Formats: sequence, structure tokens, C-alpha cells
Amino acid sequence: MRILLAPMEGVIDAPMRRLLTAIGGYDACVTEFLRLSDGELPERTYHKHCPELAQGSRTSGGTPVILQLLGSEPELLAVSAARAVSLGATAIDLNFGCPSRFVNRKQGGAALLKAPQRMAQIVAVVRTALPAKIPVSAKMRLGYDTPDRAADIALALEQAGADFITVHARTRDDGYRAPARWEQLRPIREALKIPLIANGDINSVEDWLRCHEISGCEHLMLGRGALMQPDLALQLRAWHQGDAIEAMQWRDIQPLLPRLLEHYTPGTRGLSARLKQWLGMLRHRHTGADEAFLDIRPLRDLDSILAALTA
Ligand SMILES: Cc1cc2nc3c(=O)[nH]c(=O)nc-3n(C[C@H](O)[C@H](O)[C@H](O)COP(=O)(O)O)c2cc1C
Repeated sequence: MRILLAPMEGVIDAPMRRLLTAIGGYDACVTEFLRLSDGELPERTYHKHCPELAQGSRTSGGTPVILQLLGSEPELLAVSAARAVSLGATAIDLNFGCPSRFVNRKQGGAALLKAPQRMAQIVAVVRTALPAKIPVSAKMRLGYDTPDRAADIALALEQAGADFITVHARTRDDGYRAPARWEQLRPIREALKIPLIANGDINSVEDWLRCHEISGCEHLMLGRGALMQPDLALQLRAWHQGDAIEAMQWRDIQPLLPRLLEHYTPGTRGLSARLKQWLGMLRHRHTGADEAFLDIRPLRDLDSILAALTA
């Protein structure tokens, strides 16, 4: 069983990757998407986006980091992937799932699900541009407006050279509406020889048991569930090994919030919003987080928020 930490733009950045993977259970994590649309990006953008490049593409705790690219131009993506590898990336993921209208208007992300040949071309060209030892993966949704072609699309990506594929079990038109359609993953898994990573609404060990049973998948990626319950990967790992561990309670999680801030460069803007955003996820699971969220919601200033959180 492989457990990956999902890319989440504006939410799971390098400090959050570091913190969540340090808790344990993850085989790898994926960066937020780096968008290529108007030509090549300068080196500093890669480093800003994925500071782990400077440390062998691993988090400080040693978890491998996969760099995700988003775009629709095969050559630009290939050149950029090669650039990322020359800067230290050890694995490249391609985004075929982003539902943002802005991104889709430029034919990126989930818009490509309407053009499977182009998706396959992108995978093939990126694969060819990189040394064989660098894995190339793809993250897709079930389809744009229908899941009917999901297995064919995934198969085309496998034939184009993808090393593994993650499928968020929703179409682009489903947005993030629950429930994820785990049953649609089964025909994809049966069509593929390479690993399929199941993604979408796996927020507890019980969810994974059901997803595993329904989809037949052996590997998974955690997104929002990892934010709601920071030790979820560890719990899944324990379950897999036949052990049971006590889940983190709010009293264990509360100290993680100020700790997250220690991983940002001093003076980074938007940290109050980051804390509120995370608490907004944690309150789904923890009454204490709900109370803390309501306490800090009206506060603007980071010091007052931290004081309230550590009181
Ligand atoms: C705020 C937000 C940002 C996201 N950013 C990305 C991204 O940069 N790249 C990507 O492939 N998926 C992105 N996703 C999709 C997630 O990786 C994941 O597929 C989705 O949230 C479903 O999984 P979950 O139910 O475990 O959260 C994002 C999702 C959210 C909610």
C-alpha cells in the first residue's frame, strides 16, 4: 500500500508538507501545481514553489517530493520538466484534473480530459525528455462531464509511458460535490498494469476500507482528510500492518498550529488566513478546533490569533 499526500494549491505548501509528512505514514507528497502557460519559468520560481529541490527533493523528514506541472503545451511541459529535474526534481506529476475556469480556459488541467490524445502526447513527450530513472505520473479526474471514458484515458496515459496514475474519483463537472465515485475506479484499475492511486473523500480508515472494497485499489492519496486528521496516514499504515494506534486528539493537534508557522520565512504574508483555513478543516473532526475557530475568526492580527490558540 502506497500513501501519497495530495497536492492542494494554496493549502498544502512546503511548510504543510513538512509538518504532515513528519507525523508519518506517507510514501511521497506532491507539490501544488506549477503552471506553465506563457513560456519557460525562471529557476527561482521552481525553488520558491518547491524549496525541497535544494535538499534532494525530500522534505526535512526525508519524504520524497513529486513536483507537479500544469499546462497544455507538450513541448513547454517537457522543457520545464527537464529544467525541474536539472534543478533537483526526482519525480514529475502532470495535472489533468484542475477544475478552475481560468486554468480550463487555457486548455489546462481538467479541460484536457476532453482531449485524451493530447494528454497522452504530453505524457509521452515529457517521458522522452527525462532520464528513465525519473518517474512521470499523471493525476486526473474521471472525465470532464462523464466518467465513461476514464479507463480508456488512463490506458492511453499508461501506453504513453506514465509510471502511475492518480484518479480523483469525480468528473470536472462534479466539482467537489460528495460523494466521490469510488466504483468508477474499478474498471480503471482492471484496465491498467501500472499502479492506480485512489483519491477523493478518503477521510478515515473506515472510508479507505470501503474505497478499497469498492474500487479494488491498493494505493491512495489523501487530501482534505490529511488536514482534518493529521495522523490519518499513520493510522492507515497501522491498520495495514494489523495494528491499531490511538488517533490524535485536539490536545495533540493544537500545538501543531504554531509549529506550522515556524516553517515559514519570517514576515510571510497571509499566515493568519492559513491558520484559519486549517482550523476550518480540523473543525470537521474536532470539537476543540471548532471552538478555537470561532474564537479566532474575528481576529486579524497573527499575534492575537496565536495567543488565543495557545491560551
Ligand atoms: C484547495 C484545493 C487545492 C487543490 N490543488 C490541487 C493541485 O494543485 N493539484 C492537483 O492535482 N489537485 C489539487 N486539488 C485536488 C486534490 O489534490 C484532491 O484531488 C481533491 O481534493 C480530492 O481529494 P480529497 O477528497 O482527499 O481532498 C486541490 C483541491 C483543493 C480542495
